[in-house]
Amino acid sequence: MERLDKILAATGKWSRKEAKALIKSGRVKVEGKNPGGPEDKIPEGALVTVDGRPILTEKYVYIMLHKPAGVISSTEDPREETVLSLLPKELRRIGLFPVGRLDKDTEGLLLLTNDGSLAHQLLAPGKHVDKVYYVEVDGALDQEDVQAFQSGITLGDGTECLPAELELLPQRDRGLVTLREGKYHQVKRMLASRGKPVVYLKRLSMGPLELDRALPAGRWRMLTPEEKAFWGR
Ligand code: URA
Repeated sequence: MERLDKILAATGKWSRKEAKALIKSGRVKVEGKNPGGPEDKIPEGALVTVDGRPILTEKYVYIMLHKPAGVISSTEDPREETVLSLLPKELRRIGLFPVGRLDKDTEGLLLLTNDGSLAHQLLAPGKHVDKVYYVEVDGALDQEDVQAFQSGITLGDGTECLPAELELLPQRDRGLVTLREGKYHQVKRMLASRGKPVVYLKRLSMGPLELDRALPAGRWRMLTPEEKAFWGR
């Protein structure tokens, strides 16, 4: 916990006195709300903004983005809209990158960070965390698909997938897929190999980190201290 005026002054943009005046002017918000005053104690990782622009207080930033369809997971592209374009400009120049990509038409949980060692921890071969996807297919999913996922699917090009989980949902064209690896277009290719093409795909979780249901598509928030603690951050 740190005093709000101290957090602002630590950026070097304002003196302590100016920071106090700024807070009293109503231009500073903490997690979108008006603070009580300059002496307010702010929990680590809370989102502090001035005129709606985030103040960065820590070296590493961890962002949960609800990726909408239509944007690509790269950080730069000459033609396409990227996930970074959904963030305010202060957050676009601190070296953020997505931890594991989603296809352009896939929605859901995307973790963005500038902490390379966390990305390594989550993506290095043999260290992959479980990822859960909600999927809708053209066709009806059945127990044979569940068995095939459990045994390990071989994709059209001969690539072998690790055993994965398919949970059937009451509507027969819907299911939950859990993967422990991240091959290119993996869910789509696994279901294509079963003759049931994916028509909608959304990532719901990565290990213990779940997509916040209160976060609409296209919106983001900082990870909470509890969420960062999943990975010792
Ligand atoms: N599998 C896919 O096919 N696409 C994604 O975006 C993620 C997993």
